[in-house]
This record gives sequence, C-alpha cells and structure tokens, in this order.
Amino acid sequence: MKNTDSLNSPWRKDFPALQNFAKQNMVWLDSAATSQKPYPVIETITDYYQQGSANIHRAQYPLAQKITNDFEQVRHKVAQLINAPTDEQIIFTRSTTESINLLAYGLEANLPNTGNIVISGLEHHANLLPWQRLAQRKGLELVILPFTADGIIDLPAAQVMINKRTRLLAVSQMSNVFGTLQPIKQLIQIAKQQGAITVIDGAQGIVHQPTDVQTLDCDFYAFSGHKFYAPEGVGILYGKTEQLAKLQHWQLGGEMVQTATYHSANFYPAPLGFEAGTAAIGSVLGLGAAIDYLNAQDRAAIANHEKTLLTYLMRELTQREGVCILGQPDQSLISFYIKGIHPADLSQLLTEQNIAIRAGQHCCMPLYNSLGLSGSIRISLALYNNQHDLQQFLSALDKAIELLA
Ligand SMILES: Cc1ncc(COP(=O)(O)O)c(C=O)c1O
Repeated sequence: MKNTDSLNSPWRKDFPALQNFAKQNMVWLDSAATSQKPYPVIETITDYYQQGSANIHRAQYPLAQKITNDFEQVRHKVAQLINAPTDEQIIFTRSTTESINLLAYGLEANLPNTGNIVISGLEHHANLLPWQRLAQRKGLELVILPFTADGIIDLPAAQVMINKRTRLLAVSQMSNVFGTLQPIKQLIQIAKQQGAITVIDGAQGIVHQPTDVQTLDCDFYAFSGHKFYAPEGVGILYGKTEQLAKLQHWQLGGEMVQTATYHSANFYPAPLGFEAGTAAIGSVLGLGAAIDYLNAQDRAAIANHEKTLLTYLMRELTQREGVCILGQPDQSLISFYIKGIHPADLSQLLTEQNIAIRAGQHCCMPLYNSLGLSGSIRISLALYNNQHDLQQFLSALDKAIELLA
C-alpha cells in the first residue's frame, strides 16, 4: 500500500476516547452519528464545572459576568467560523433538529397559504419532518427534488421544480447516507431567483467543508456541535438579519422577554429572543474549545487525510464480491450493502468483532424506500481514524462475509 504516512492520524493522540477504544480493541467508525472529543473540549467542560457554574445574562456577581462573557465569546467564534456578518445572527439551540424545528414554527406566520416548500429526496428526517408538518399546517405542497445515482440533488430537475410558487427551499450540504457534498450554492441561487427562503442543513457538511454563509448567500444555516467535536446539547442557527427579524418567537420563557404582564408580553429580537430558558452553557463553552482546536489544525491536511482514507476504503470495498456502494461518496462516509446479505446480519457480526458502525436507514426512511433497500451499513470517518482502523474493519468484514455467504 502506498502513502501509508497519510493513512496515520497525527490528531489521534488528542482524543482520549480513541486510546480507550484501542485498549478494548474497538474500532470507531461512526463519527457521522457523533464525534469523539479532543482534550481541550473535555478540559473546558471540566473546568467550567470545577471552577463554578453560573447562569448567563442574569446576575451581576463576577462569576456570572465571566461565564456570560465566555459564552458570548463562543457566539463570536461561531460567527467567525461560518463568516456570519455579526454575532447577533447566531442563535444557540440544542441541535440541528431543534434549529430546523425553530424555523418551521418561526416562519409559519409569514408564509402564504399557497405554493410549495421544496426539499430533496435525500434529506435526513430532521430536514424532512418539520417541513412536512409545516406544509400540512399551511396547506402547502411539499415538493421533493430527485437525486442522481451518484447521490447528488438533480440540478436540472431543481431548475424546473423550484418555481415562482416556491416559498422555501431546505436542503442539506452533505448527505449522511451518500457522503456527497451537494450543489447548495447553485440550489440557493435557483431558489433566490424565485424569491424563496433558503435553509441549509449543515449537520454533516460543516465538519468536512469550510463554510461561508455570506458566499453561500443562504437565509438560514443550521448545524450541531456534537458532530463537530463539541459536546451534545448545543446546536446553531444562523440567519440573515432581515430574515431573523421576521421569525415568530417559538419557545417562550425566561430571559427572552422584554416586558411581561399577566396577559401580554414583548420579546427580544434574535439571538436572545430565541434562546428561552437556561442554555447548555457547559456545552457551548465546549463548542468554543472545539472551534479553537480545529482552528489550530491544518484543515486542508485533515480533509486530505480523510479523503485518503476514503479512497483506500472505497478501493478495498469495491474489490469484494457483491459489495454495492450507495452513490459516489466525496468525503468521509460510505454506505454499502452486500448482495444476498441482510445489513442487520452483517452489522451483528461486525459488532461482535468490536467494530462500531451503523446499520439501518440512517434517519432517511423515504430515501431507502425510494431505492428499494431495507438499509445499509454506514462507515463514517473522522480526523482521528487511521489505516489500522480500516484494516481491522476489512478483516472483520471478510470474516463476516465468510460466515454469512
Ligand atoms: C444531515 C443531517 N441532518 C440533521 C441531523 C440531525 O442532527 P442532530 O441529531 O444533531 O439534531 C443529522 C444527524 O445525523 C444529519 O446527519
């Protein structure tokens, strides 16, 4: 095998969980579901709880002031990460799922009762079900853009199907099934020509592609911290200022209200008006540490490393009889099945051999139904994976095939 150096990960040592997995002889290949966390993230969270927690935006005492400042610094780091013009355009939610649900409620009052909402056939349930329900509530049509055999949203079809009746387009930046980067810039342009609102689900994309919301020119962009080497419980919603101003407040409660009587209330604008209740403060601070960690690395080298692993894995998989890969993966993620073998059986045997992968429909039930498949095995890679992980997986796969054939 050539190029073995680039198949070893210089980042692996920064992730204690990987050392723990090694002791158990376990291979972690499920980073698209959630990522492991580097030392600085773990240390930041531990510090926050050890040095003292305090609620934000409420109290005057020094600890509360410090934590509020640290929290707001993370908002600034997120804005810089995606090149948002101002920090006020970054809303902290709990996840991508919550960001998209926020939008589906927040946009409802200002959408007309005629026309359509356009998504694609490869969306995760998080970017399908909130729009499906919104379409039902408003009496709008839900239009599904087709995707090609490569696993890419069909642009010529989109050109026709996104039309003057389109009120909103919501698509993902990277498919969590095909591992394909989507032509979101072109899709956003098509939607803009028709005056539609544009929403990007960046849950997978942000991890593997530098993202600039101003270049993309999308109205909204959502992602989750936990796939981005940060803790669970923090999500992000970016919006253009004029679009955020039109959103209806959805969750109501503490610290988002300007004035309240028993019978009426006025709310703050974004971001605070959309952050009702106590935020996941420790997780937000952890997200800041994850951004700092990644900023200190060579992101191009990470992308290169992940691509090299992916290419190696693709080559190895396609050499095995009966292996069918879904689409043409671009980055870090491969879904496949083997003719004549049920994915659940294969997954069981891989699990027994300590390989952590996912089998099933990966929260994309309609996609699998449209392909006529009951599911697939998904391998997802991150910066900490190395050649040894893949070899261990491939040898476990060969044993499983031998047993099941
Ligand atoms: C493409 C995509 N969108 C949305 C989500 C939902 O993310 P979360 O569970 O963090 O809300 C996922 C999670 O796997 C995903 O892969």
